[in-house]
Amino acid sequence: MQEIIKKQGVITIKADLGLIGLAVMGENLVLNMENHGFTVAVHNRTPEKIDQLLQGRGAGKNIIGAYTIEELASQLKTPRKVMLMVKAGEPVDLFIERLLEVLEPGDIIIDGGNSLYSDTIRRTKLLEDRGLFYVGAGVSGGEEGALTGPSIMPGGSKEAWPHIQTIFQAIAAQVDGEPCCEWIGSDGSGHYVKMVHNGIEYADMQLIGEAYFLMKHLLGFNAEEMQEVFEEWNQGELDSYLIEITGHILGKVDQDTGQPLLELVGDGAGQKGTGKWTSQEALDLGVAAPTIAEGVFARIISGAYDQRELAAKAFPFKTPQVDLDPAEFVEAVRQALFASKICAYSQGFDLLAQASKEYDWNLNLGEIAKLWRGGCIIRAQFLQHITDAYDQNPDLENLLLAPYFQETLKGNQESWRKVVALAVEQGLPVPGFASALAYFDSIRHPYLWTNLVQAQRDYFGAHTYSRRDRPGAFHTQWQLGDKVVTSDEV
Ligand code: 6PG
Repeated sequence: MQEIIKKQGVITIKADLGLIGLAVMGENLVLNMENHGFTVAVHNRTPEKIDQLLQGRGAGKNIIGAYTIEELASQLKTPRKVMLMVKAGEPVDLFIERLLEVLEPGDIIIDGGNSLYSDTIRRTKLLEDRGLFYVGAGVSGGEEGALTGPSIMPGGSKEAWPHIQTIFQAIAAQVDGEPCCEWIGSDGSGHYVKMVHNGIEYADMQLIGEAYFLMKHLLGFNAEEMQEVFEEWNQGELDSYLIEITGHILGKVDQDTGQPLLELVGDGAGQKGTGKWTSQEALDLGVAAPTIAEGVFARIISGAYDQRELAAKAFPFKTPQVDLDPAEFVEAVRQALFASKICAYSQGFDLLAQASKEYDWNLNLGEIAKLWRGGCIIRAQFLQHITDAYDQNPDLENLLLAPYFQETLKGNQESWRKVVALAVEQGLPVPGFASALAYFDSIRHPYLWTNLVQAQRDYFGAHTYSRRDRPGAFHTQWQLGDKVVTSDEV
């Protein structure tokens, strides 16, 4: 795949792609590409990083150092393809500005970071207006995935796809012989899909955290016992990367103290913003995604140390006193976790469906679930059921309604309710399990309390209401003294 150009007696090897940003993700992607036979030119703001790569993990490989942006551009085959693996936000804009000075119409810039989709929409337009192409590619899989096969979600200028498809599909994870990388759609769709992936990731992690918390407090299980549970769960329908790594984490012992390392880890959870963006988008588009949002709120509460310390003194936590059959309760928690997980994914896919309409992306939801079967953080056997559900019915209103999920929820709901009720009774917070259950119960209830909300709105603000027995918009003078009132069509 090397294009050797002889110019004034000097042999120059042109690279298939240029990559800017040699932090771990960037460096691993370079090595992954090289490993698949591609020559990569690399640039980094601090040149030491380039030297480190060339002399270290990249020594003897088809990797070319570019110490300036000009040099990088001159080392690339045309149309030039430059991938940015830099921090989302301003650094992306700054590099685009620099690249626009050296690239030509027809060249392609790819942003592989966790950029906000609206920034990607803006940048796609900026480049296309100048005759270049832009791709916002969500890349999931962490450091290891970047090296061995991530899930890649590219979207933006469709014209760019034939030029990058071979590289991206070669380096992506493969499941059943299919690459976990497919064209998503126009402008910001790739980054949007990655954002929702991360929102679901927040919910998934929250739910697994609650399962661990319940076994710890209600069964008094130690890390080793819980490791066994997660290992067992990973053999069944919960089989997934996050369940697998949870088992590994529980198995680690701290060298200094001999204690399970997890029990020494501080509980203030960090976040970089993609879960928050997903929740904000859900609110903006009017999609109910409470379990995803609870994942974000739970992290926020966990970090509110001062408030937590005062509240812990004001309302001391009492150690639960329950007598449970361990095997039975573990199974009930597993069922609650799986049911809640289905709700979280339903919320995420509902958001994707609405976004597809709102932004005119024509997203293929079954295909997206397929891309997440391998390489990414939420990879799971379970995603095949989502693909199947959309294959059977591309217009599915909500994932909960697909036959497989209906059956599972019906089978699991009794345990789910028992687990949530017991946790509430014992003062153990389970915002993920409980919000998912409330979502499920709300969505299936034929007549909600929101009739009262409508009446209240009409009472104080004359916002009008609809009637169940006739069409139209109505207003009532609720505040009048009379018991019998009129419902006036407006
Ligand atoms: C992935 C991850 C990756 C990253 C998140 C972590 O798909 O590979 O989601 O994107 O680990 O940004 O997000 P938080 O720091 O917000 O938990």
